[in-house]
Amino acid sequence: MRISVVGTGYVGLVSGVCLAEKGHEVHCVDVDQAKVDRINAGESPIHEDGLEALLKKHVGERLQASTDLDQAVRESEVSLIAVGTPFKDDAIDLRFIRQVSEAIGRVLADKEDYHVVVVKSTVVPGTTDSVVLPLLEAASGKKAGEDFGVGMNPEFLREGVAVEDFMDPDRIVLGGMDERSLEVMQRMYTVFDGVDVLRTNPRTAEMIKYTANSLLATMISFANEVGNLCAATGEVDVTEVMNGVHLDKRLSPITEQGRITPSFTTYIEAGCGFGGSCFPKDVKALVAHGRERGMPMDLLGSVIVVNEQQPMRMISLLKKHFPELKGVKVAVLGLAFKPGTDDIRESPSIPIIQALLDENADVVGFDPVAEAEMKHLYPAGQMRYADSLVEAIDGVDAILLVTRWKEFDDLPEMLSTMTKAPLLVDGRRMLDKQSVEHYEGIGL
Ligand code: UGA
Repeated sequence: MRISVVGTGYVGLVSGVCLAEKGHEVHCVDVDQAKVDRINAGESPIHEDGLEALLKKHVGERLQASTDLDQAVRESEVSLIAVGTPFKDDAIDLRFIRQVSEAIGRVLADKEDYHVVVVKSTVVPGTTDSVVLPLLEAASGKKAGEDFGVGMNPEFLREGVAVEDFMDPDRIVLGGMDERSLEVMQRMYTVFDGVDVLRTNPRTAEMIKYTANSLLATMISFANEVGNLCAATGEVDVTEVMNGVHLDKRLSPITEQGRITPSFTTYIEAGCGFGGSCFPKDVKALVAHGRERGMPMDLLGSVIVVNEQQPMRMISLLKKHFPELKGVKVAVLGLAFKPGTDDIRESPSIPIIQALLDENADVVGFDPVAEAEMKHLYPAGQMRYADSLVEAIDGVDAILLVTRWKEFDDLPEMLSTMTKAPLLVDGRRMLDKQSVEHYEGIGL
């Protein structure tokens, strides 16, 4: 199939490259010429495992990039809209979705063949059929359902393993305005054998995406709230509490081969909060959507409140030992919002670093891959950066462990050889509390 993908951000590029790998002819479009040039040179603009190798394999063959939306749409059967939907003020900003819908509509005005426009970006329920569809009709002068089709196909990629998630998905959700749109969308995925396909309307597809992320975010804030209560209670460790909870056979089923521990349970663990480009934005967007519809989303509102307070728990734990932070040498370990990525968007490390700098602490940051990203926000003049874990913890008074990088598993051993071991505040409860001399942890 010939597919055009508009927007070469994280969703667009991964989808485009992987659809090429699955055998489709893909034309990626972006307004950013520099990005287009990089893609055509086989260079991935984002850090994502396996992406560059696939890009190199297909670029110039089944995959091309350009700024020419007209040509891309004219020569394809389906267009995927994968532009950003940033959260601004108190709702998602649909500016790019609108611009692209109008631009595609103008091409459809004199395209003879039937074409399906599919929204891949995460948008609030109703956006595809009440924003995108009317804009396409207005700009094309044609009728949706007759001259062209419209659909919504959310993505469920996790950063860091996005290629793997795309190539081997757990589900394919297709929201089509009618049977014909659905049929074309489903053809894109016939190459994905044996995967559960859910066919529905666009609004339901949009709601599935938000609900899936909101559930995971809720689990995290729930665990964090319980963790904070454990800490306030005393003599209760949230990790033990959650281990006990996870043993419920409905969470970790007992099979003939033994007990299964689904990865879902890892979202029901306490820590210093969730971040990334999805959870915070998506939960806020759903809360805003509820407000607009006269349906207050109190539970999800609290999910955000708990999450925004959580990084400050790290500072409180630090202050138990250093009431005055001025001049205290603190290593912040892990800058990325989670391991396996250089993405620092909404990372708990940001408010933590800011609070430390506000109190004139001497901050050194370390991350296996995200240092360059953090330097855009906090240049080297404002804080120091270490090139290695050893350098980061050398001579510090305290360590704040913010991201669950595997590299940090070695900390207990490294600390045990130091003459004056610093305080370690474990924001992910990833280390054995007995293995570190001066240990503090969330929910302990
Ligand atoms: C999330 C969802 O997991 C994906 O299914 C979804 O497609 C994606 O958002 C999206 O909407 O695009 P992602 O943001 O890449 O994916 O990250 P996760 O791995 O889910 O992590 C999100 C946050 O949850 C991170 O801050 C992380 O620290 C936290 N987390 C993650 C946990 O607390 N426990 C875990 O086991 C995993």
